[in-house]
Amino acid sequence: MNTPALASAGTYSLGDHTVNRLGYGAMQLAGKGVFGPPKDTDAALAVLQAAVEAGVNHIDTSDFYGPHITNQLIRQALHPYASDLTLVTKIGAFRGADASWLPALGRDDLTRAVHDNLRNLGVDALTVVNLRIMFDVHGPAEGSIEEPLTVLAELQRQGLVRHIGLSNVTRAQVAEGRAIADIVCVQNQYNLVHRRDDALIDELAAAGIAYVPFFPLGGVTPLQSDALSNVARQLKATPMQVALAWLLQRAPNILLIPGTSSVAHLHENLGAASLVLPADALDTLEKIGSTA
Ligand SMILES: NC(=O)c1ccc[n+]([C@@H]2O[C@H](COP(=O)([O-])OP(=O)(O)OC[C@H]3O[C@@H](n4cnc5c(N)ncnc54)[C@H](OP(=O)(O)O)[C@@H]3O)[C@@H](O)[C@H]2O)c1
Repeated sequence: MNTPALASAGTYSLGDHTVNRLGYGAMQLAGKGVFGPPKDTDAALAVLQAAVEAGVNHIDTSDFYGPHITNQLIRQALHPYASDLTLVTKIGAFRGADASWLPALGRDDLTRAVHDNLRNLGVDALTVVNLRIMFDVHGPAEGSIEEPLTVLAELQRQGLVRHIGLSNVTRAQVAEGRAIADIVCVQNQYNLVHRRDDALIDELAAAGIAYVPFFPLGGVTPLQSDALSNVARQLKATPMQVALAWLLQRAPNILLIPGTSSVAHLHENLGAASLVLPADALDTLEKIGSTA
């Protein structure tokens, strides 16, 4: 059941699936460093169940979280899936034995990753698969994405993948990608402070393509700013709720997947759906951002 609070943030389409704009990112459910099993499996399962009970119908995941573990938790907690639940996964990396994140963009890597996702999620076809390009502190790696995207488009034609998205990509790569395949979403780093993708977001909004910011709360170290805390205090909200509400107001094509391993944080974050930021709060928050 969709709760009225969640519905107040509206919906957007991912291909032929319509999802609530406020969803959930499952990366935090694996063990420390997104590697190995969670400390408390029952607690991880409870977060997934609480998300769906609260009306979340968009969950972001990957088989390289754990690896395999996050998808297996999703299957254990939620399978058989509700007909309106959209699971979005990503391929393009694999995890070294030391928990490192390594590129896996060759034909065999991508094909294996699609089959790993199918098996561990327990589905016959993946609803949305993001092709994830490697990135570092400077942002996405430059260069053509033609080869791996062509492989993913072939897997789509085989019926294993319904819709394609891109992750960690530049504007040039998005343009290249859109000429190769129908792209339904782009998932890049973006939040109140980190606004390098401003122009891309507006371009995608005009094209009806969803933009899904990762690290919407700042990632490993959640956002901290006096201005953010002051706005939150004035609005009787929390800083994380303000950060999410700001993203919801930033553009209509933004879909949120805040990550958490805690049911309390999950409910707090979903509370952002009904938070409306007045003009003076937006003015204050505007000054925190950097496009560098
Ligand atoms: N495409 C990519 O390359 C890529 C990269 C990174 C992430 N992602 C996706 O994006 C999703 C979101 O990113 P993320 O989880 O890394 O970062 P995030 O959503 O910005 O923040 C998660 C961090 O914030 C904490 N947190 C969550 N809610 C909180 C609250 N209300 N108060 C205080 N702390 C709170 C979490 O800790 P607790 O567990 O303690 O709540 C966790 O440490 C991931 O789940 C994943 O699906 C994609």
